[in-house]
Amino acid sequence: MELLRDVVVLVHLVGFATLFGAWITELVSRRFRVSRVMDYGLLVSLLSGLALAAPWPAGIELNYPKLGIKLVLLVIIGGLIGTGGARQKRTGRAVPRAMFYAVGVLALITAGIAVIW
Ligand code: HEM
Repeated sequence: MELLRDVVVLVHLVGFATLFGAWITELVSRRFRVSRVMDYGLLVSLLSGLALAAPWPAGIELNYPKLGIKLVLLVIIGGLIGTGGARQKRTGRAVPRAMFYAVGVLALITAGIAVIW
C-alpha cells in the first residue's frame, strides 16, 4: 500500500512537471500562451491529489488545511487556463501577460506549499 501511495505521489509530480514544463516552454519561446498541455497537467495533479487526500494506508496523518489551500489554488489556476484559452481562441492572440505569469507563479507557489509547509 505504501508503495502504491509513492507511485501516486510520482504521478502527482508528473502532473506538476507537465503543467509547469508547458508554462516554462511558453515563457522561454516567448509565446506567452496557455495550452492544452497545461490543462492535462492540472487534471493529472487534481486526480492524483484527490487520491492522495484520502487517508491511506491506515494511520497516515494528513494536513487538511494545506490540502484545502492547494485545491483552491488549483481551481484558480484552472480558471485562468480555462478563460485564457477561450480568450486566445476568440482573439487569436496570447493571453494578457499578467494572466500568463499568474499561471506559472501560482503553480510554483502550490508546489512550494506542498514541499515546505
Ligand atoms: C497545481 C496543483 C498542485 C501542485 C503543483 C502540487 C504539487 C505537489 C508536490 C510537488 C508534492 C510533493 C510534496 C512532497 O512530497 O514533499 C505534492 C504532494 C501532495 N499533494 Fe499536491 N499539488 C497540487 C494539487 C493538489 C491537490 C488539489 C491535492 C488534494 C486536494 C493535493 C494533495 C497532495 C498530497 C496529499 C500530497 C502528498 C504529500 C503531502 O501530504 O503533502 N495536491 N503536491
